[in-house]
Amino acid sequence: MIWFKRLTKYLLMVLLGLLVLYAVSRLGVVYFTSQLEGERDPYIQMTNASGVILRWQTREESIGSVRLGEHPQQLDQIFSEPAASRLHQVKIGGLKPDTTYYYAVSDTLGGQAGGTESYHFRTSPPAGVPRPTRIWVMGDSGEPGPILTGVRDSMQQWVDQHPRAGYPDIDVWLSLGDLAYRSGTDEQFQKSLFDTFPEQLRRVALWPVYGNHDARRWTYFRLFDLPEQGEAGGVPSGTEHYYSFDYGAVHFVMLDSEASANAPDSDMYQWLARDLLKNKSQWLIAVFHHPPYSKGSHDSDIRRGSNVAMVAMRENILPLLEGAGVDLVLGGHSHMYERSWLLDCHYGDSTTFGKNRIVSDGVNHLNAEYIKPLQNTPHAGAVYVVAGSASKVDQGPINHPAMPVSMLEAGSLVIDIEGNQLTTRFINDRAEVKDMFTITKQDGYTSGYAGCAP
Ligand SMILES: [Fe+2]
Repeated sequence: MIWFKRLTKYLLMVLLGLLVLYAVSRLGVVYFTSQLEGERDPYIQMTNASGVILRWQTREESIGSVRLGEHPQQLDQIFSEPAASRLHQVKIGGLKPDTTYYYAVSDTLGGQAGGTESYHFRTSPPAGVPRPTRIWVMGDSGEPGPILTGVRDSMQQWVDQHPRAGYPDIDVWLSLGDLAYRSGTDEQFQKSLFDTFPEQLRRVALWPVYGNHDARRWTYFRLFDLPEQGEAGGVPSGTEHYYSFDYGAVHFVMLDSEASANAPDSDMYQWLARDLLKNKSQWLIAVFHHPPYSKGSHDSDIRRGSNVAMVAMRENILPLLEGAGVDLVLGGHSHMYERSWLLDCHYGDSTTFGKNRIVSDGVNHLNAEYIKPLQNTPHAGAVYVVAGSASKVDQGPINHPAMPVSMLEAGSLVIDIEGNQLTTRFINDRAEVKDMFTITKQDGYTSGYAGCAP
């Protein structure tokens, strides 16, 4: 039997060697496909009331600089990098709030970009100061192609046809995650994001949350500068995985449902509790990739695979958000559109959903009007939206009882906030508004909602 023992030992060693080889080659693939390569036009990051970060890429190392001014013909402020790099990053501060700046970038090897009227950005208004705010929300935009460009152009057409005097076409741009299919590689980000949205990237900061496909490589965190130190308002999170920021009267909390723990003893939960306690903004919007309610291409009742995150966010995070008076909760992951009633306190699966969890049915489902008290009130109801169809539509039963409006449509959201009213429109890839709802905050309003008790 000695020969048998030797053979077993030999086979185990071969198996172990193959496993090590596979792990090393896999790590190599992840490493090399996560490197930022090639040239990239300037893109805006991390806008706040006094500045932005400008990023761009060149093929050779050089020292980059930015020329900046309030008029396209007069770029008289200069900001330069301290050292040569391929991945240029210029942090610009000391600017006026809510002001449009034009810019051009150049480098010591003679490269240039910008300097025309389309290269401009606008600093944020001071936190807490209400001003009309237009938010564009795209979910699961990772598949380049005609659906994604149709969604992009439909949004652009709608905002161009509905301008707001004195304000830009978009103030805030949110991603619900899964920006680059299938694996979040640098090349995939190039196609689905940089090649598809050059006009938007050069003038509006993109604020993303981490999706499961983004998490397959390291590119995501290399491409984005996210405010882990509270640079744009909110309590510092100490990580780019989750963060918050302010824009006028709106506070955004951007959570990581993919790779960060969310139980009450977790860092993210504890940070969120501190952040929400400090928040005094009139409007509160929460964003994370895995939606708490969905019967789309993912099912929030199933406790397996990537659905587990949907259940965990619902059970752990929703009570915290609703206790802080959240108005709107946005998610993707399911590749379709679903929109809830004004809801509160539903933390179980869909079979346990009852009408007693509906704070308001909005009267007309396809043009719903929801009302909340003017003062921030815990458990006054929130609307939950799944909008994971910016680049593809998948199949699903779309029959979650919390979601009176569900459709297999590609599209994105345009949200307008003006004073006491928030209006959300779902615009499909043929420029049709397929759903709309408003949330209005009224002084002295009390709903007939009986509260969280069963
Ligand atoms: Fe996803």
